[in-house]
Amino acid sequence: MAEKRESLHGQWSGRWAFVLAATGSAVGLGNIWKFPYITGENGGGAFVLVYLICIAIIGIPIMIAEVMLGRRGRRSPLNTMRQLAREEGRSPHWQYLGWAGMVAGFLILSYYSVIAGWALAYIFRTAAGTFTGVTADGAGSIFSELVSDPERLLAWHTIFMVMTMVVVARGVRSGLEQAVRYLMPALFVLLLVLVGYAMNTVAFDEGLSFLFNPDFHALLYKEDATGVERWTWEPVLTALGHAFFTLSLGMGAIMIYGSYLPERASIAKTSVVIALMDTLVALLAGMAIFPIVFANGLEAGAGAGLIFQTLPIAFGHMPGGAFFGTLFFILLTFAAWTSAISLVEPAVTWMVENHGVNRIYASVWVGLATWLLGIGTVLSFNLISGEEYQLFGKTFFDLLDFLTATIMLPLGGLFIALFAGWQMRRESNLDELKMGDGVMFQLWFFLIRYVTPFAVVLVFLNAIGIITF
Ligand code: TRP
Repeated sequence: MAEKRESLHGQWSGRWAFVLAATGSAVGLGNIWKFPYITGENGGGAFVLVYLICIAIIGIPIMIAEVMLGRRGRRSPLNTMRQLAREEGRSPHWQYLGWAGMVAGFLILSYYSVIAGWALAYIFRTAAGTFTGVTADGAGSIFSELVSDPERLLAWHTIFMVMTMVVVARGVRSGLEQAVRYLMPALFVLLLVLVGYAMNTVAFDEGLSFLFNPDFHALLYKEDATGVERWTWEPVLTALGHAFFTLSLGMGAIMIYGSYLPERASIAKTSVVIALMDTLVALLAGMAIFPIVFANGLEAGAGAGLIFQTLPIAFGHMPGGAFFGTLFFILLTFAAWTSAISLVEPAVTWMVENHGVNRIYASVWVGLATWLLGIGTVLSFNLISGEEYQLFGKTFFDLLDFLTATIMLPLGGLFIALFAGWQMRRESNLDELKMGDGVMFQLWFFLIRYVTPFAVVLVFLNAIGIITF
């Protein structure tokens, strides 16, 4: 049995603090910006259904596993994996999982920060009343104007990176709990306000049916460049990847937060609560956005700009819209901020543990490297957006997003599942989860051993065309 370790970096003040921080990490741009736009690009309801199934049978079991490993190891993900592999008598190579996670976090943050910069920019546009009475065309051109200007994007990206690294440098726990406790519920209420607005548009039913009526043809067939419909598996892979992305899984973010979790807290229940809240936020965002899309004759598959082209229309027409809009983008920025922090936390903690540097020094260097890479994403919306700069029809930003969210996170999650299910002794899992050897434990153990790895592998094999249904 492992001796009881304390985290070298302190602990949460209690279970609620962990719930708040993990929710802060999970709820972010993934829910409000990414979920609607990829749902729109992939045909709606069927995509949502696949995504929900992935959350239930893959996301939740892996979240439980990640929190559990983190709390047992009580270190940065890399050192946690190394430590647990040693304790369980397994190969030291498992530590590379920690490495891959840090790289994934770094790559994701580099573009996440650029998008968060858009949210920042929109705070000022809404506050200035730019959107009052705006038309769909107007909202579209205000958005294009922003993203076609590399200098402005770079400035907002820089501001967001500085905001993030200041918090990381000071230590994640100071302030984060309070911020999440008040701001998350506020964001939730504002989403309800937006859904209320959407209800009064002419297309609320159409929006809901797009979101909840599964149409598998729309999921699995896409027009290629010549306008011919072709079968594609990529949307299923995207849905799987997004289940990881939205729950912050597969790279150690939830593991490091788990490492600060007090001994007594119930991991399984907590994980389910976090996953439910996260899913609810995403669905509400979808319910707010698609009615606006259809009521204004916009394109559901408009891409990464979708919320920035639709929500301003709502704010431009509802009473008190400038106020609500400003508040909304402030809260969105906050949600992005509390997520961004968790993306670098594993790397910064690892530098502090293994290289004897202080948090400030580690944060400055990690932040600088991330900022530099982010310039690639900034430019991919303007100077290098052209086809001659694309690979497989994807821009630099699309490629980075595909590589991380769609490939690295599910693979990371697969190995986490394999480690927890097949490398950890059953007693170690039981000892750490503290839920007794009842039905719930057995269900989790079954899912993490068989269902989760099998599902991930199946989706992947299909994607590379080895098996096709
Ligand atoms: N989950 C966050 C969102 O939905 C993004 C995020 C934070 C993340 N930490 C992560 C994604 C770790 C993957 C891995 O916006």
